[in-house]
Amino acid sequence: MARNKKLLLLPGDGIGPEVMAEMRRVIDWFGARQALSFEVEEDLVGGASYDERGTPCADATMDLAMAADAVLLGAVGGPKWDDLDFSVKPERGILRLRKDMDLFANMRPAVMFEPLIEASTLKPDIVRGLDIMILRELTGGIYFGEPRGVKKLIGGGREGINTEVYTTPEVERVGRVAFELARKRRNLVHSIEKANVMESGLMWREDMTALHEREFVDVELQHMYADNAAMQLVREPKQFDVMVAGNLFGDILSDCAAMLTGSLGMLPSASLGETDATGRRRALYEPVHGSAPDIAGEGKANPIAMLSSFSMMLRYSFDMEDEADLVDKAIDIVLAGGLRTGDIMQPKKARVSTKVMGEAIVAELNRLTA
Ligand code: IPM
Ligand code: MG
Repeated sequence: MARNKKLLLLPGDGIGPEVMAEMRRVIDWFGARQALSFEVEEDLVGGASYDERGTPCADATMDLAMAADAVLLGAVGGPKWDDLDFSVKPERGILRLRKDMDLFANMRPAVMFEPLIEASTLKPDIVRGLDIMILRELTGGIYFGEPRGVKKLIGGGREGINTEVYTTPEVERVGRVAFELARKRRNLVHSIEKANVMESGLMWREDMTALHEREFVDVELQHMYADNAAMQLVREPKQFDVMVAGNLFGDILSDCAAMLTGSLGMLPSASLGETDATGRRRALYEPVHGSAPDIAGEGKANPIAMLSSFSMMLRYSFDMEDEADLVDKAIDIVLAGGLRTGDIMQPKKARVSTKVMGEAIVAELNRLTA
């Protein structure tokens, strides 16, 4: 089994450092109890990096990220940096990591934790047993397309431009990941676009269909317009297995899917690059939730999305299925036992801090391996 993997931790802003501290607790546990030691480096990203270095992601940080076997990121952003120019906003730090590491495949699972079923805003029957994988293209589309910007118009007023651009190779590489994921799940892919109004959307649909016919006829492929997909997600979410979408639609649908499960504070994500000739694949893991500046520093944040991101790393970067299952199981048991952070608080449950939740999960890891 692989040992001494190199991790880069980027806690970032807001609640990022707090949830990252609980992940460190789990890393330390693996080091002490499972002889599974990671080489850990830590650096700044987002507003924290801007404050110290004038940039949300320094070149030196990029170098560390490129050299790491996996990057774990907390969260970035906050009102403090709202008025900064676009080029140095905290979010630019994440976008640079995604783009420069070429992390085109963003997996955002939305899984229902049975003990939290009452925390969903949907009826229990609609979400019980829910298990969807949103696969979001992460390095193309309107997030990066040119031309972009705001220009002054002669005669007054301005024009704001962003451009949706996809090429066939970009559609195909994310499509392949979607079909391969589906093969390990329930063998169904919904491809999401707006082929009814966007040329790039029609091309996306045609390229997905061609790829499907060429390489993945054993998987079921369905096409769906993005607006209908948003509606179907809240109407009957269990019809979905893998949903694949471009950058912007994926951003929106993954927030929607996340909320079905009752809490953004629960959901992890993985962003993967292409596998290179040596079998190495760049990867970044981060919670789906943001920096939550309103509760930062108060010990109220839910560390579970961060810990689940760590578990995804064990699974997808290091093939450590048993270790990943162990972390997931510890989280399940602690939730079933009634501990809750504020975001998932329910009647008659015990409200605990970020730290107590982290400690309880580590205690459960101990118990499970005793
Ligand atoms: C996400 C976030 C980011 C995005 C922001 C922070 C740049 O909303 O990861 O979903 O829009 O991609
Ligand atoms: Mg988002």
